[in-house]
Order: sequence, then C-alpha cells, then structure tokens
Amino acid sequence: MTRHFLIGSELSPEELRAVIERAGELKSAPLSSDALAKRTVALIFQRPSTRTRVSFEAGIAELGGHPMVLRTEDLQLSRGESVRDTAYVLSRHVAAICIRTGPDELVAELASHATVPVVNMLTAENHPCQALADLLTLREEFGRLEGLKLAYVGDGNNVARSLAIVGAQAGVEVRIASPAAYSLEEPVAEAILTDDPRAAVQGADAVYTDVWVSMSDDPESAAHRVQELSPYRLDDRLLDQAAPHAIAMHCLPAHPGEEITAEVLYGQRQRIWQQAENRRHAQKALLEYLAVPAPLAVE
Ligand code: CP
Ligand code: NVA
Repeated sequence: MTRHFLIGSELSPEELRAVIERAGELKSAPLSSDALAKRTVALIFQRPSTRTRVSFEAGIAELGGHPMVLRTEDLQLSRGESVRDTAYVLSRHVAAICIRTGPDELVAELASHATVPVVNMLTAENHPCQALADLLTLREEFGRLEGLKLAYVGDGNNVARSLAIVGAQAGVEVRIASPAAYSLEEPVAEAILTDDPRAAVQGADAVYTDVWVSMSDDPESAAHRVQELSPYRLDDRLLDQAAPHAIAMHCLPAHPGEEITAEVLYGQRQRIWQQAENRRHAQKALLEYLAVPAPLAVE
C-alpha cells in the first residue's frame, strides 16, 4: 500500500523514531544514500517558499534524485484539470509527489488517487515536514524526545497543529498558548491548550513561536491579529519562565518585533537556524522511507 505523509500521524511512533534516527545519520553523512538514484520527485508549489523548496531540492539531489519543481502556473491543474487526473499522470512518472497548497482536502484527494507517496509541504492546517525537522532538532539538543515539554505560544495555526500531532507520536508534551479567537479549533492529539503564555512555558524545554499572519490568513486581518497576539510575543522575559536550559524555536520566516524579538531570534538560546537546516536531513530520511521504488502503474 502506498504510504503518504499528510498530517504526520501516518508514521507510527516506531517509524517516526526510525526516521528521526536516520535523519541524524544522513546529517552526518549527507552523500551516503542513493535512495532516489535516477528517480524524479515532483515538488508542486501553489504557495511561496524559501526553506521548503531549497531543502527538498537540495535533499533530493543529495539522494541521487531529480527534483522537479512545478509552480501553479506550470500545471494544467491551474486551468481546470482535475486533481484525480493530475495524480494519475504524475504517478506514472515520479517516485513521490510533494505539494504545498492551501486546502488540506486537495492534498487528501491527490493522495487518494496517487500510486506514489504524497508528502504535504504545508497546507492551511498542517505542516508536518516542519514538525519532523523540529523533532530532530529537539533530539539533537536533549538526546531524547520522550517526556520533553514543548510550549508553543501565539497563533494556533498549521505549525502548532503539526507540532501537536507529530509531537504526540514522539511522546513530547505539547502545550499551546493562544488567545481564544486564535486557538486551535478543537483539541488536537494530546496537546494542552491554554490562553496563558506564562503558564504554558513554565518548566518547558523548548519555547516555539510562528508568524501571526499565515499565508492562508486574510491579509486584511493582519492589524487585528498583531494587536490580539502581541501578549504572546516570544521575548527573553517569557523565555526566562521556561526551564533554565530552554531553547527558542521558530519555523521561519520570522517577523522580528512581532511574534519574536530580535534578541531571541539571534540570541544564544535559539536553535532556529539549526531547525532550518534540519528540514533537509529530516525530509531526506522521510523520502528514503516512503519513496522506495514504486510501481509506475495506476491500476
Ligand atoms: N518554514 C518553512 O516552511 O519555510 P518556507 O515557507 O520558506 O518554506
Ligand atoms: N504558519 C506559516 C508557516 C510558514 C512556513 C504559514 O502558513 O504561512
């Protein structure tokens, strides 16, 4: 059966552990695997990207494969061809289909018709590849994942949801502090939801934040969001409430002065640039695991 990575919980805790472990190995020896030799991976971008595009392209090349970037306007999908037909055709050519788009339903539909793995490179509700890389970063820092406490402060968005889902699979206690209007709509996995950022960060091993206005949000709402979310800014004072060894995390891009201060973003306690690098290593391990040569037929 074709395996996909759409929200993150598709990998069992054991598989997740194995992928993180493998990511660490690939980080130490980046050119040691030819898992995608002579294979092509489609990278569909219907939204902008810096980290995701660069880390997937570079990572696929390091695995001996060919990354094929397809922007919205490159595909007949943008002129009304169905998701189903797109899935059928791409599955006959490539080893995996990775996609960044808005609707999660579109990605689920693509996966339901694809005969090769589909990987979610960010949707309105999920960003599981980011969470995978973040687990690698946490494991590098603390030598383990089980029992770690991660506090996320700010907008209850796609990054928060994926941390909750993928973190739970890894045994990380995830606490999410957001104002009620910007909270995750329903409880996700085992995440602890609160509107109190100080309570969330007490004793936390890592404090995480993300932008207050995401690509899927109405830009008109930006000013209101910034006003409502400003008590949730990640600054040194908030970080001081966490464990003495706590690290600061952010998926980037950052808006210094909004959700995070420049002091934290460029300070001693951040592991943010390491997170950005770890995207490549984690995604390579994921693709290696999922995209073992698949049959090139639809039926
Ligand atoms: N963190 C992340 O996914 O960054 P990009 O939007 O630049 O890909
Ligand atoms: N929450 C952000 C993440 C960007 C990588 C967004 O969806 O725009």
